[in-house]
Amino acid sequence: MKLPNLANARKRTKNPVEVITDNYKLTNDMKKLGLNRAYYIKTYGCQMNEHDTENIKAILEDMSFTETSKIEDADLILLNTCAIRENVHYKVFGFLGQLKSLKQQKPHVIIGLCGCMAQEEVVIEEILKKYSWLDIVFGTHNIHNLPNILERALAKKELEIEVFSNEGDIYENIPAKRESKYKAWVNIMYGCDKFCTYCIVPYTRGKQRSRLPEYIINEVKELVKEGYLEVTLLGQNVNAYGKDLDINYNMANLLEDVAKTGIKIVRFLTSHPWDFTDDMIEVIKNNSNIMPHIHLPLQSGSDKILKLMGRRYTKEDYIKLYNKLKENIPNCAITTDIIVGFPNESDEEFEDTLTLVDEAKFEAAFTFIYSPRKGTPAAKLEDHIGKETKSTRFQALVKRLEKHIEAHSDAMVGQVFDVLVDGVSKNDPNMYSGYTDENKLVHFRGDESLVGKIVKVKVHESHTYSMIGELVNG
Ligand code: SAH
Ligand code: SF4
Ligand code: F3S
Repeated sequence: MKLPNLANARKRTKNPVEVITDNYKLTNDMKKLGLNRAYYIKTYGCQMNEHDTENIKAILEDMSFTETSKIEDADLILLNTCAIRENVHYKVFGFLGQLKSLKQQKPHVIIGLCGCMAQEEVVIEEILKKYSWLDIVFGTHNIHNLPNILERALAKKELEIEVFSNEGDIYENIPAKRESKYKAWVNIMYGCDKFCTYCIVPYTRGKQRSRLPEYIINEVKELVKEGYLEVTLLGQNVNAYGKDLDINYNMANLLEDVAKTGIKIVRFLTSHPWDFTDDMIEVIKNNSNIMPHIHLPLQSGSDKILKLMGRRYTKEDYIKLYNKLKENIPNCAITTDIIVGFPNESDEEFEDTLTLVDEAKFEAAFTFIYSPRKGTPAAKLEDHIGKETKSTRFQALVKRLEKHIEAHSDAMVGQVFDVLVDGVSKNDPNMYSGYTDENKLVHFRGDESLVGKIVKVKVHESHTYSMIGELVNG
């Protein structure tokens, strides 16, 4: 058993990051371990977790497991979890509770938990106390080791926990079974060193470590060869890409080199307002395949709260960067994340956020009620603001954001947009959908032959979060 340790997870040293290229090797026994066994995996959390799931699926399929979407058919059930807020914690433990009776009926089924929650001490304590019927728990640092973990669990038939709370290395050449044939997630860096006071990610994902450019560029080139049209470069702070490498190469260089691979659409997530450089702006402006969409989390419009959050910028800094982006990148859409109810946020401080929202008129936003995460500095603050106040503020914020989002959507009516067709709409089999360059969802009448193609759509109806349009020639 290897259990997580928050004190270790918090440490940052100058030790070099190792790039491990030849670690993923399966023995013949491992390659057969999944024969006649089906796996079911459920993913919570961000795009990074989604992409980890793509890696996990490929590893399992290398071991001869087959995927099933029906939990009742599964011989292996994995929950790839997220620790960012408490609500997922309850959902995951609720789900595990339901799985207990399944495990009693079918004791051969292996049930496992992985992802960011596995990195939390409190979660492992709860598992050891109440869910020790689980079979495997592994963390974010040892996905490549899944074949070994499964092999041991199957041999021992008792709970196998392997979670490392280290700074982390970089494992290259791990396979991925990608969800889409046209759009791909590409990690450019792992971990985070910003330690915003409310956030658990630096503890669950280790230190900031950038992948070497050649691996990223080669991955994108391969994707182009395979027919992929879009890549989204992933990292907690993509602007800080390269700062931890001892070569003279940064996010602007990477964006330019990725754009030059010939991939049709380049997106990137997430930009922290702190490290956004003028060079990045130039590169985005000068490369038409880099999308004019910047996800720029604000978190709060109050300088005092921003300071308490450890965000390292003021509202003036934010607006200055915002204006620079809008002025220099044509049609640039800026979206954001906002947290309501940070400990002791006053009415005035919340008003400051609304004022900034009115100024910035974001194209889209993710909004959250602050959730204390054990082990983070903010979780130690005594909070005097009640749940109801937070909930009222949350509603007010959503309403204010929607007013601006609606205005943007209305302004799209009558215009023609390029859209990469994702597939059929969830609610109507005759409607297809995809996203514009600015990341707005558009539905239109179409057929299966359009999936995976970039088409032109004229918008004729606007809803707050999506558009209705029609295909136009050209
Ligand atoms: N690295 C990104 C954010 C990743 S987490 C950045 O810094 O911009 C995604 C979002 O979850 C954050 O932007 C924040 O708005 C929200 N979040 C993180 N921790 C939270 C917490 N403890 N409570 C509520 N929301 C949180
Ligand atoms: Fe969390 Fe801040 Fe890192 Fe984003 S930058 S992952 S909010 S610590
Ligand atoms: Fe992502 Fe959640 Fe982990 S947001 S990094 S899966 S805590």
